Amino acid sequence: MSVLRTKPIKDVLAQGEADGTDGRPGLKRRLGALDLTGFGIGIVIGTGIFTLTGIEARDSAGPGVVISFAIAGVVALLAALCYAELASSVPTAGSAYTYAYATMGEIVAWIIGWDLLLEFALGAAVVARGWSGYLAELFNLPTTWFGEEGSVVNVGAIAIVLILGIVGIIGIRESARVTNLLVLVKVAICVFVVVAGLFFVKAANLTPFIPPSEPAGAGDDGIKQPVTQALFGLEPSVFGFVGVLSAAAVVFFAYTGFEAVANLGEETRKPRRDLPLGLLGTLLISTVLYIGVSLVVVGMVRYTDIDRGAPIASAFEAVGAGWAAVLVSIAAIAGLTSVILVDLVAMGRIGFAIARDGLIPPSIAKVHPRWGTPYRISAIMTVGVALLAGLLPLSALADLVSIGALCAFVLVSVAVPVLRRKRPELERPFRVPLSPVLPIVSALACFYLMLNLSVETWLRFAAWMLLGALIYFGYGYRKNRLARREDATTPSPREPAAT
Ligand code: ALA
Repeated sequence: MSVLRTKPIKDVLAQGEADGTDGRPGLKRRLGALDLTGFGIGIVIGTGIFTLTGIEARDSAGPGVVISFAIAGVVALLAALCYAELASSVPTAGSAYTYAYATMGEIVAWIIGWDLLLEFALGAAVVARGWSGYLAELFNLPTTWFGEEGSVVNVGAIAIVLILGIVGIIGIRESARVTNLLVLVKVAICVFVVVAGLFFVKAANLTPFIPPSEPAGAGDDGIKQPVTQALFGLEPSVFGFVGVLSAAAVVFFAYTGFEAVANLGEETRKPRRDLPLGLLGTLLISTVLYIGVSLVVVGMVRYTDIDRGAPIASAFEAVGAGWAAVLVSIAAIAGLTSVILVDLVAMGRIGFAIARDGLIPPSIAKVHPRWGTPYRISAIMTVGVALLAGLLPLSALADLVSIGALCAFVLVSVAVPVLRRKRPELERPFRVPLSPVLPIVSALACFYLMLNLSVETWLRFAAWMLLGALIYFGYGYRKNRLARREDATTPSPREPAAT
């Protein structure tokens, strides 16, 4: 038995058929390209644009934060192109986990599946806590139950996870409707911010566009410093082009999540056409909105005066249009709600794909006959996320979401040329241009961004992976479908194979 065994593509495609492969109900194909784009924007536009713009403009890049958003957008777009090729050729609920299973082997697939579970589960939990805080601010609710101060149990976070978990379980169409509505609200408000903000932009605020580089103040060191600094002993500096680049690594968080679209491959009516449209549409729309919003914010207020906590709302307050702050809060709450919902939906699909392959107990992969959703695994994981969000202050763990996403992007980028070599004849409705150059650039760029995350984040990530390795070798390695199939076909030493 080998940890590098691969799953035949024909098995992957057969499993994705609506009726399931063994007479059990499968997921239901109910989504089109617009729904996929809705899910994509639903999970992508969240806290990133509403918070990171201020912090990075002020501390690292100045107005150049606009370039940081553009750079991060291009890197995310490269990864999305790779996702689009694999998702259109092998549409499946497991996305990167399944692509890796078909190309690089079981252990890599497990690593990536375990990593994606972390990204989506932790993403939902972290954002749920943020959601609760925003709600408390908007309605003056007690922080003991809805915020971080003196809170033992965050009731708001638990409630929102459970409510959205139920929506997700009741059906993919219902989830799509709720997500689309929330997306309309937040996109409309982002467009409003750009259009209304343009009237207050002052050219003077935008010069110099990239402030000259200067040494960083006494800041974080030890395990808080980026891995690049720790490894190469680089002198920390801020602003200048280096500042713009390091801000790009941080604002990349704002683009994470689009890959959840690829998890809906078994619920899309025309996956080969619509998955690439959903993935690339999400990224193009988000990039344009992010560049617009960040440009307007740094144009309205000098970067040295930007508010770190609520940059957009306070930019409007600074120009005497404080009423816009309420709109921004509404956009933030709508934004965060859809992020949690799509995180929960994607998390269920990854868990479903892994359980269906027997790497975790397959009985939890059951699909509900009427709702057409993987209700068991979704319910179990939703309760886990609710407890996590309710009991732990998680904001320090937000970087784990980024490292999880980036690790998946590196492997997906590598999987594109590998699958082209292994299965050149496979039908590829969407092809990454200039392969293998673009996939390699994508893998390197994502890895570079991973190296810009802190040593602490890497250590936490390693701990999660270690836990995953224990589960894999303790259970999945021997019990999964391929292993059982190998067992069944391998003749026992006393019983020679029939010839
Ligand atoms: N991309 C999501 C956000 O910005 C996670 O909140």
